[in-house]
Amino acid sequence: EQIEKGGYEHFMLKEIFEQPKSILDTMRGRLLVNEGIIKMAGIWDHLDRLTNAERIIIIACGTSWHAGLIGEYLIEEFARVPVEVEYASEFRYRNPIISSKDVVIAISQSGETADTMAAIKLAKEKGAFVYGICNVVDSSIARYTDAGSYTHAGPEIGVASTKAFTAQLTILSLIAIKLGNHNGNLGKADFMRLITELDAIPKKVEDVLDSVDETVKTIAANFVDATNFLYLGRGYNFPAALEGALKLKEISYIHAEGYPAAEMKHGPIALIDENMPIVIIAPKVGHYDKIVSNVQEIKARKGKVIAIVNKGDTQVSAMADYIIEIPETSECFSPILASIPLQLLSYYIAVARGANVDQPRNLAKSVTVE
Ligand code: G6P
Repeated sequence: EQIEKGGYEHFMLKEIFEQPKSILDTMRGRLLVNEGIIKMAGIWDHLDRLTNAERIIIIACGTSWHAGLIGEYLIEEFARVPVEVEYASEFRYRNPIISSKDVVIAISQSGETADTMAAIKLAKEKGAFVYGICNVVDSSIARYTDAGSYTHAGPEIGVASTKAFTAQLTILSLIAIKLGNHNGNLGKADFMRLITELDAIPKKVEDVLDSVDETVKTIAANFVDATNFLYLGRGYNFPAALEGALKLKEISYIHAEGYPAAEMKHGPIALIDENMPIVIIAPKVGHYDKIVSNVQEIKARKGKVIAIVNKGDTQVSAMADYIIEIPETSECFSPILASIPLQLLSYYIAVARGANVDQPRNLAKSVTVE
């Protein structure tokens, strides 16, 4: 086992550090920047079906569901096809309206999650075309779906998903950009800009890992005894906030909630005092000025702000108690970069609390029963 961990103390840490490679592996042979194309065998014959879908419904559980939420932002922005995202467990039991004009995208790392499988069966019975995004090759979901693309993250051993999540975001980015290119919603210049930026992501992930590890470890040491955490983000980084909170809950057993930053005023703001740590994802994209006012509101209530900002940021950094810097990228890819320090933060807090990070209590890697 020590050899399999490759010198890391836990599989989770190894998998976090594998992300430059797992993201690159997921793009390999698909993202061909020099030729100016995205080539994906799985989607090739189904491009019209996906772009002409009345709706795309993304179904998944857990971390894969968070990737699905980001998939919704990506596909709606670039391909302008309406997308809904549902928990597989809700979808399967609520007699959903679905027809042969719909396309379902099922996302699953293991390809064995019982609720996701049941939701796929239901969608197929109702005539929908089902596209799978799985990490485990030849898994039940991979075999049962009509078509699909694998993430090539490699085996993920840690129960809390890390590299599979960023690989899912990579595949969803490729699909969304490909669909937008196919149906003409994305012009040549935007297409080229996006694929060039996506191509640069593995290197940027490597830069994040090199530059933030020590900082995050130091920050984590201050929050070992925290009992609650709030995670906030806007736009593409709202689902990233949900995922950050889930990571902390899963492995450190600290209660954490993710929220869209603007919704703070509708509830969570009542919880903020000097004992409340708030992780805020604040790269200089989208509505950065709005995030700046959110941070002002938090500081006015003495909340402890841990901010993920771009290198050279001044406004949020001036107010935050702790800052973690990540490189700039397009808003749509920023959750990939922001996820890295969020994973490390939960990891180092959990380790400091003496938790079994690779096999957290009550959780399973693959949930094959209801
Ligand atoms: C379990 C795992 C999570 C995972 C979820 C969905 O809860 O502990 O890490 O996100 O199942 O699994 P799937 O394999 O379908 O992505």
